[in-house]
Order: sequence, then C-alpha cells, then structure tokens
Amino acid sequence: MSETAPSRDRLPLAERKVEDLPGHWLLAHLGKRVLRPGGRALTEQLLDDAHLTDADVLEIAPGLGKTATSILERNPRSYVGVEADADAVSLTQQVVGSRGRVVTADADSTGLDDASVDAAIGEAMLTMQSERHKADIIAEAFRVLRPGGRYAIHELALNPDTLSDDQKTEIRKSLARSIKVNARPLTEAEWRTVLTDAGFEIETVRFAPMALLQPRRVIADEGVGRTLRFVANVIRQPAARKRVLGMRKTFTTYRDNLAAIEVIARKPADR
Ligand SMILES: C[S@@+](CC[C@H](N)C(=O)[O-])C[C@H]1O[C@@H](n2cnc3c(N)ncnc32)[C@H](O)[C@@H]1O
Repeated sequence: MSETAPSRDRLPLAERKVEDLPGHWLLAHLGKRVLRPGGRALTEQLLDDAHLTDADVLEIAPGLGKTATSILERNPRSYVGVEADADAVSLTQQVVGSRGRVVTADADSTGLDDASVDAAIGEAMLTMQSERHKADIIAEAFRVLRPGGRYAIHELALNPDTLSDDQKTEIRKSLARSIKVNARPLTEAEWRTVLTDAGFEIETVRFAPMALLQPRRVIADEGVGRTLRFVANVIRQPAARKRVLGMRKTFTTYRDNLAAIEVIARKPADR
C-alpha cells in the first residue's frame, strides 16, 4: 500500500462512499461484527489450537476488535494488535483497554522485537494482499515469533487444489468486483507453500464453509438482535443493499470453490 496516497481501505469510514467501500467495511457499517469467512466458530477453534493462555500474543489486523475479546478471554500474558487503519486501531484499543496495546503499522513491519511473541493471530487479512505482500507479512510473523511459536491464520481458500489458472483468475476477478478488494485467496496447497517457504512447519489445517452471508451463519455469528438490525439496515439503504446482494451472489456462484481455511504454522524450535 502506498505511503503517500491513502488507499480506500485507509480513509476514515465517514469519507468513504458506499459504492466502493471495501466489503468488510461495508458490512461493518451495516452493523455486522464478525467479518471472517469461517465465522465465530472457526475463530474459536483457531484460538484454541494456537494455545494462548500465558502467551505473549500479537494480533495482526484486528479490525473491529472482535477477535481481541476472544483472545483476552484466554488469559494471554500480553496482547499487542498491529493494524493499518486508524479507525480500527481506536476501536480495538477501546475493546482491549488496559489489557494490551494497539499500534498503527503495516503488518509487514510491526516494529516488534525479534522473537518477542509466542503466537501471532491473523484473520481475513492475508487473502487481500498481493503475493509479494503476503510473503512479506508471513516473513514478519516468522521474525517476531519465538522458536516453537505459532502463526495462526483464518483465511479464504480456493477448492480444489487442481483448479486451473483460468478458473482461479475468474473467481478472483469476481470477488474483486463485488467486494471491492483485490482478494487473492489461495488453494490449500498454495497456503501451505507460502508458509513453508518462509520456514514454518504446518501443524494443523481445518476448513469451514464460506457462509459469511448465509442467514444461518449470520444468526450464529451475530445473534438474533444484531441480525435483525443488520437486515433492517440493508433494507433501508438501497446502495448498500445492491452491494450486499452482489457479494452474496458471488459467494453463492462459487460456493463449491470457496472455503474458510484455518492453518496453524509453527516456527521450528531450533530457528
Ligand atoms: C477483513 S478485516 C479483518 C479484521 C479482523 N481480523 C476480523 O477478522 O474481523 C481486514 C482488516 O485488516 C486490516 N489490514 C489490511 N491490510 C493490512 C496490513 N497490510 N497491515 C495491517 N492491517 C491491515 C484492515 O485495516 C482491516 O481492519
């Protein structure tokens, strides 16, 4: 992302037009709080698998700070969030209070010391980076983790591994058009490779359906009250409704090719 010209993702929410808001900010603006492809259930599983109790934890791109609450419930020794968006930094800092700190920085240069955390958690953020930036962020996670530390990611995956390049391009273009973010999900094999190329060992891989906008998932993630408010906001705002229906159409069209993926990658004990 450019240093001089802020991207749409960096503008304060009030200055962004509904027509080209990135999908996660559009959904947040409409009252949705869980913005991960596998929903709350996969987040909870990811955090259990990452072993956070008494750990020094880095959360990469905490967004609205929803996962921060679940991290703190596991009683880590310390919490630091690193987030590029100023609005998101202050939202997460409000959630975390005196139990941790949130800094404004790009995930590829966190400013943390080498080997200073036991776990790094990143959800729904690597998918939206270029291949080069994915590699830079993964290398940064590797640098700040202690030997034996875990990098836990919850991202969007393409299915099956045998998809042709043309099929992958078609899905990525459709996602980019509807969610207004250059989403570049990878197949399971590709996610494994970007992590092992950086020196990680793969400890766990799990999947969940990509059902972000399916009614049953929305109710499970948000609860009935917040779901009703979200639906009312969608109905009341025609421009936002058009965007949400467009996103849902893309997710439905490619439902057999999209999944949420959890990967726990471990920094070898001797590195
Ligand atoms: C889809 S939201 C996910 C937020 C949160 N992890 C969650 O699952 O709800 C993406 C967040 O990633 C942040 N982000 C995107 N690229 C980033 C980067 N390179 N460095 C730090 N934060 C980034 C955005 O500012 C936004 O808050």
